[in-house]
Amino acid sequence: MSATESLAAATIPDPQSVAGRFQRRRTFIAVRQLPSAEAGRQPSDVIPATSTSPGVHAGLLDRHRAVLPSWLALYYQHPIELVDGEGCWVSDAEGRRYLDFFGGILTTLSGHNVPAVVEAIRDQAGRILHTSTLYLIEPMIELAEEITSRSGIPDAKVFFTTSGTEATDAALMLATNYRRSNQVLALRNSYHGRSFAAMGVTGNRSWSASNFSPLSVHYVHGGYRFRSPFKDLEDADYTAACVNDLRDVIAYQTAGDLACMIAEPVQGVGGFVVPPDGFLGAMAEVLRDHGALLISDEVQTGWGRTGEHFWGYEAHGVVPDLLTFAKGLGNGLAIGGVVARAEIMDALDANHISTFGGNPLATAGALANLRYMLEHGLQENTKRVGSRMIEELRNATSEMAVVGEVRGRGLMIGLELVEPDGYEPASDTAAEVMELTRSGGLLIGRGGLYGNCLRIAPPMSVSDTEADRGLEIVMEALHRVDRR
Ligand SMILES: Cc1ncc(COP(=O)(O)O)c(C=O)c1O
Repeated sequence: MSATESLAAATIPDPQSVAGRFQRRRTFIAVRQLPSAEAGRQPSDVIPATSTSPGVHAGLLDRHRAVLPSWLALYYQHPIELVDGEGCWVSDAEGRRYLDFFGGILTTLSGHNVPAVVEAIRDQAGRILHTSTLYLIEPMIELAEEITSRSGIPDAKVFFTTSGTEATDAALMLATNYRRSNQVLALRNSYHGRSFAAMGVTGNRSWSASNFSPLSVHYVHGGYRFRSPFKDLEDADYTAACVNDLRDVIAYQTAGDLACMIAEPVQGVGGFVVPPDGFLGAMAEVLRDHGALLISDEVQTGWGRTGEHFWGYEAHGVVPDLLTFAKGLGNGLAIGGVVARAEIMDALDANHISTFGGNPLATAGALANLRYMLEHGLQENTKRVGSRMIEELRNATSEMAVVGEVRGRGLMIGLELVEPDGYEPASDTAAEVMELTRSGGLLIGRGGLYGNCLRIAPPMSVSDTEADRGLEIVMEALHRVDRR
């Protein structure tokens, strides 16, 4: 029996029962037996399988809505559960297969179900899951050694957390403590997480549920040129205009003794916004005049995701005082952290702990993932495949009124969709393209203040064949909405 036939023969399980869930898993073992893209998949093979378990998602959605917060956004008119994955491919609970070009929000960095990473997790889980940082943890120490030596920050130390939000919080706490100031600068259109402090430096109304913040925050211009008053300036002039604005904000709005500025080298949630090279370096010169520190939020841009560099900050001719990371390091495990010079990190004069931060399971898995990505040249692959995808998308959409801009770096590729006037955000159209790409067998993301930016960010192991297929589906969807 072929894999497709065995899928069709599978009984539709009861989604409510434990047995039903187990049965659903077995169904997807069959899905995994399909040949991989690397093994010469033909275009007809990548057309999503027909549904084998209709109704599973609808039942889950009802249960989700009953017990989970209304503000916990779900993608798609008919939300889906992803239950199995292999490389860049995933299967949903109703038996459809997709190319995953959003990787759990840029988190599945090496791809789904990478044997080296899975084995490391299995091995650690079979010995001890958790001990806490009250005891020595070898994988944590080894991971910290790897990260500090690659961070570019001199005399660096790492504090591990369980998420990017906590990494933001820790970095802000370290910087404000070191500088004895709660005055922080952040960029407009930024996203740094969901705690009070992280939300307080998030310059995007869609993600700022509360204005209560422990910090005094001022927002300066960042790299979002498409909607900037400095839009028409050349790179160098654009940067100069933003630096002048930074000087003005410091002079007019702050008490001068700033703690730090926090910035994403490429804004992720903001719609993959790339500032001119050297932008953060130019801003940092002004910060230095005031003794303020620079925090580079590398939660999305770290580990080679921008292709040309291991850290996003490297495009800017500056070494930050602190950097934060999370997402891709664990390939799905909950891990984050902050790197800082020892004098900043060690300046705390109280105990500080994260119970799960540096956990043996997360650090053993992250270590295996980091090694995998280094040994398999994923940064180089990202640079090569990413630049080709960006170029092809630019060429293919150059005549399309609905695409205001194609931008990005490496495998952070953004398309800003606009109304026929070429400027108003086309949010509904972006939602429609999300639906069309999903039904075509491709998962991508959305971002920007207005939700009108498409975000394409496959695992860094994506192959040329997979990239081509993904682009084909995106272009089919864009042609459908552009024709009207
Ligand atoms: C740049 C950036 N910083 C911080 C965060 C917060 O990370 P987490 O969701 O793991 O708390 C995110 C999440 O999307 C992010 O994109």
